[in-house]
Amino acid sequence: MTAKAGVVGWPIAHSLSPVLHGHWLKQYDIDGSYERIAIEPGTFPQRIAELRAAGFRGVNVTVPYKEEAFSLAQKKHQAAQITGAANLLVFTSDGEVGANNTDASGLFDSLEAALGRISLGGKNIVLLGAGGAARGAAFGLQHFGHVAKITILNRNKDRADGLVEHLRQYLPEAKFLTGGLEDWPDAAAEAWLVVNTTSAGMKGNPPLELDLAPLPITAAVCDIVYNPLETDLLKRAAARGHKTIDGLGMLMHQAAPSFQAFFFEEMKGKMPEVTPALRAALVGALNAR
Ligand code: ATR
Repeated sequence: MTAKAGVVGWPIAHSLSPVLHGHWLKQYDIDGSYERIAIEPGTFPQRIAELRAAGFRGVNVTVPYKEEAFSLAQKKHQAAQITGAANLLVFTSDGEVGANNTDASGLFDSLEAALGRISLGGKNIVLLGAGGAARGAAFGLQHFGHVAKITILNRNKDRADGLVEHLRQYLPEAKFLTGGLEDWPDAAAEAWLVVNTTSAGMKGNPPLELDLAPLPITAAVCDIVYNPLETDLLKRAAARGHKTIDGLGMLMHQAAPSFQAFFFEEMKGKMPEVTPALRAALVGALNAR
């Protein structure tokens, strides 16, 4: 029987998940499907129950349902607990729903793939933003990367303080500093990596206004935004000679554990590969929009 999975959200037409999972289904020659499923507001729990009854193995979850998906699950992985949001629901054979958030590991895996297996251990990171995306990123960098210090800078500094207060419950040993964007020059001077998690620079939003001059040329710059693929921040960083990492890295790496979970038997427990061909398929889909 065809193994079924999909992505749920509202709206859902723009999700790139079917491109990712469709590419892997073909690559590994799996008798499986991965659909886009629109869920109307107010109907999430019923629709999830219907999908389970229809034989789905699980679903990815995108806006606006990541928090509701987390609440609905009985089993919650640590990354989902810390972020209070799930991008992956797995329907287990014992009738339960498991929730995970693979964004945190996805960012870490993409950084490791781009910067080499030297690990982020002992490095200073500047994280821009303090919203939902920053929460997963800060947790992932500390939990998987064991970095020396993360300086979280946000336009509204109180929000950065709130985020760190929350994270300290789970990561009491981790070193976090906070600041406003006016603290950027000092933080930048000692950064090994800068990660932008703000929505500035996303298509339709103004670019992030940040002078890159204080940043050592050895620092890498990562933007988790992938639409556009080269944000103004990445463009300016590349022009100065910084190593840059765009948002497709995280997108591909956050999808891999979902695919592994949905098609565990067919993959014999293995993770699907993140390859240049997969990236090319995504770039093609973005260009076709
Ligand atoms: P998400 O869940 O995607 O992180 P969010 O919770 O709305 O979305 O957070 C958006 C983040 O981008 C916030 O850190 C926001 O800063 P504020 O908390 O000060 O609002 C940041 N952001 C959005 N537009 C920005 C801009 N033009 N300049 C700087 N930061 C911006």
